[in-house]
Amino acid sequence: MLLDRVRRGSPAQLGDYRADAGYEGLSRALSSGPEAILGEVDTSGLRGRGGAGFPTARKWRAARAQPDGPRVLVVNADEGDPGAYIDRFLLEDDPHAVLEGTAIAALAVGAERAYIYVRREYPRALATVRAAVAEAESAGILGDALFGDGPPLTVTVVEGKGSYLCGEETALLNALEGRRPMVRARPPYPAQSGLHGVPTVVNNVETLAAVPWILRHGGSAYAGIGSGTSTGTKVVSLNSLFRKPGLYEVEFGIPLREIVEGLGGGLVDDHLRGVIVGGPLAGIIPPHLLDVSFTFDDLRDIGAEVGHGGIVAFDDTTPIGELVRHVFRFGAYESCGACTPCRVGAARVEQLFSGDLDEAGHAEWQATIRALAATSLCGHGTGLAEFARSVMAYYGQDLESCRA
Ligand SMILES: Cc1cc2nc3c(=O)[nH]c(=O)nc-3n(C[C@H](O)[C@H](O)[C@H](O)COP(=O)(O)O)c2cc1C
Repeated sequence: MLLDRVRRGSPAQLGDYRADAGYEGLSRALSSGPEAILGEVDTSGLRGRGGAGFPTARKWRAARAQPDGPRVLVVNADEGDPGAYIDRFLLEDDPHAVLEGTAIAALAVGAERAYIYVRREYPRALATVRAAVAEAESAGILGDALFGDGPPLTVTVVEGKGSYLCGEETALLNALEGRRPMVRARPPYPAQSGLHGVPTVVNNVETLAAVPWILRHGGSAYAGIGSGTSTGTKVVSLNSLFRKPGLYEVEFGIPLREIVEGLGGGLVDDHLRGVIVGGPLAGIIPPHLLDVSFTFDDLRDIGAEVGHGGIVAFDDTTPIGELVRHVFRFGAYESCGACTPCRVGAARVEQLFSGDLDEAGHAEWQATIRALAATSLCGHGTGLAEFARSVMAYYGQDLESCRA
């Protein structure tokens, strides 16, 4: 559903895309109107693929329900999680799928402007998306009137500002406004007051790339794939320790073991110590829990996340204390500094794990994790806490070697 046109050798041009029924979803969306689009996406059960798993239709409805006035759509293509390269390949190889999803979302929300914020470190993705926008505009699909007689949609491609935190939606909005990319307190949520105070929907690339299929085949067909409230498919990216690293599109509900051992072929050295799914800001899963179903709820039940879908494995040459120090070093370096627990706490944990932990240090790191979980402004701080809690739950014994 998502990777069909990926790695064919060159980016799918408009002609290739249309030959595969591309833009049929948009054409249906135009004839059925916003309420019908919202209905299909609601029925599909689609949830955001950028990290939080928020129901897509609910977010779109919230922006649409705001008092009359303009609305904006923002495509989050900042993909900063170490180990994640899903959006990159979708943008580089199948840019029209992302544009079609963007146009359908804009129609549903009532937005006449869309911004695609692409990570600066993805120069090829920036070039292919820019070329695809120009192609779709000159074919009369985007621009003054969608497909010639629909509402207008201006799509602007923006180069990212080079900070991991720019992927967090409110920091991203600040970056788009030309401000420092610091997290905003919520409420108000972007759907109420986002870019320049205008109701704004921020969606991830993969979320939007799933939308054309839903419009073409119907929301119930999509809901029939997957498991429970985790409907459809998810693309995952496996890191270089796997025998068969790369991108795989899996149906939700597949056991994580099947991804790690079946698709990924296990680790090159066979000594798996754990996997982090969805970036460094999520729980680490030990080998004995690999039979967990790959769904939003099942992973959450064991203190982990689907997150963005990057799967990073560690083998037993990685000391757990060193891993904690490394993740918190990343956390401290990338903290936007807007809230104290993350700005001070992440750096403090890194410092504590740079030496042996005495009794006071151990108590301090636990207290810092509690503060990060309870009081951080965004998922950066709470994600660091989630990672730390899973280390305490599953790797407590390994941490003993860090104690003074
Ligand atoms: C620190 C941090 C970094 C994030 N980075 C990204 C990112 O690179 N790409 C992304 O789509 N979402 C990212 N998110 C999630 C966004 O804030 C937001 O939830 C998402 O773009 C919404 O789109 P969705 O509903 O389609 O998932 C990040 C969140 C946090 C807390």
